Amino acid sequence: MTCNIIILAAGQGTRMRSALPKVLHKLADKSLLEHVCQTANTLAPSQLNIIYGHGGERVRQALVGLQANWIEQAEQLGTGHAVTQALPYFEDDETVLILYGDVPLTKQATLHALLDQVTATSMGLLTIELPDPTGYGRIIRDAAGKVERIVEHKDATAAERAITEVNTGMLAVNGGRLKDWLGKLGNDNAQGEYYLTDIIGMAVADGVEVKTVQASHRYEVEGVNDRLQLARLERYYQSMKAEELMQAGVTLRDPARLDIRGELKCGQDVQIDINVIIEGRVRLGDNVQIGPNVMLKDCVIAAGARIEANCVIEQAEIGASSIVGPFARLRPGTRLAAESKVGNFVEIKNATIGEGSKVNHLSYIGDARLGKDVNIGAGTITCNYDGANKHQTVIGDKAFIGSCSQLVAPVEIGSNATIGAGSTISKDAPADALTLSRSPQKTLKNWQRPTKNKE
Ligand code: UD1
Ligand code: CA
Repeated sequence: MTCNIIILAAGQGTRMRSALPKVLHKLADKSLLEHVCQTANTLAPSQLNIIYGHGGERVRQALVGLQANWIEQAEQLGTGHAVTQALPYFEDDETVLILYGDVPLTKQATLHALLDQVTATSMGLLTIELPDPTGYGRIIRDAAGKVERIVEHKDATAAERAITEVNTGMLAVNGGRLKDWLGKLGNDNAQGEYYLTDIIGMAVADGVEVKTVQASHRYEVEGVNDRLQLARLERYYQSMKAEELMQAGVTLRDPARLDIRGELKCGQDVQIDINVIIEGRVRLGDNVQIGPNVMLKDCVIAAGARIEANCVIEQAEIGASSIVGPFARLRPGTRLAAESKVGNFVEIKNATIGEGSKVNHLSYIGDARLGKDVNIGAGTITCNYDGANKHQTVIGDKAFIGSCSQLVAPVEIGSNATIGAGSTISKDAPADALTLSRSPQKTLKNWQRPTKNKE
């Protein structure tokens, strides 16, 4: 059965104290509204309607590329008024599902359960028990336990306020019925708003049973109103991600000190130390070890590779059994073949490092292609930029580059070549030979050290 989804996202979010519309604030690097839309789309809706208001253009622009029907609610006159804006966009024989742009972590299974409640004579309402229900609409049930109506906190009597089962706002209902009831909403209540919740009483009066589904966890239905709630939901999301990884066989030295702000796929027996941040799409092969304080963004790390402490790796491919770090920075376009080694204080950008090659200390390798078993001495840099253009450095198999050399690109070092330490190489160096450029060493025997001036 297809459903037509309406997402309410017109609220201002005053308590965020932000210039950014509330639904654009991010949880795990994705806006709240994107989280909702992503879950909504897993239900394959006939249409995704987004009711927007505050910061409208910005919200639409932030979600370009999303297949959605954007409906403006110029004035926010209540949740019932918001849904009414979508009246022309759903059919009588469709099931309509109402979601909220600021409630990001509802599970697909919960929404399925909600949709399952909808028949010709029943609708679904998502509720939850809260120890402190202050502020929420309360679920009023009759003696037999059937839902009768919802009363908003501000309109509730003291006895009604004692009820701890609350309305989450999410519901599923037949489109034709919904149209009927929306047409009858009034705003004669404590807030002078058109309450969507009033349709519950109308449903019961029309003989439509309101069947409730309970959310499994309060964070599944919690909205974001301020930055404290946003931070709490972020922690909950991260704890879920960590749990999923551990269930899948990943060792986390401390599940509370890992942040997944993208998508992480792991092979078998992966180990992740503390304070690791994952962004974009990251793949870790079997037996990969990630040390503490590592940032990984959009990278693939093959089986058996080890990333030591304090590395920053972005848009890079790391070959099997390679060792990187501690303190290495691999920038976009870095490709390390199998069993290569990149050591401390090394920066690599747009470069291929061949199998078994080593760049172990204090180097910058940019716009370069290194063959197999190359050894780059400490402090060596490729001078890839002439101030206007970038140039390539090519180094053949088994070349040995002496420490503190500068390779002025474009330049090519032949295979098995040796470059003397401290050389500035600006012309191609032939294979199998020693090339060096170094001023001759001299000693001045009568030279005196300077002494301090007397006052
Ligand atoms: C609403 C429910 C309440 C429920 C609570 C759960 C009503 C009348 N009450 O109360 O029963 O317990 O949610 O959080 O529905 N919105 C619009 N346009 C509007 C008004 C609201 O898009 O004109 C959006 C808001 O951006 C927000 C959501 O609807 O995302 C809820 O609105 P809000 O005013 O916060 O409703 P509550 O008073 O919290
Ligand atoms: Ca609210």
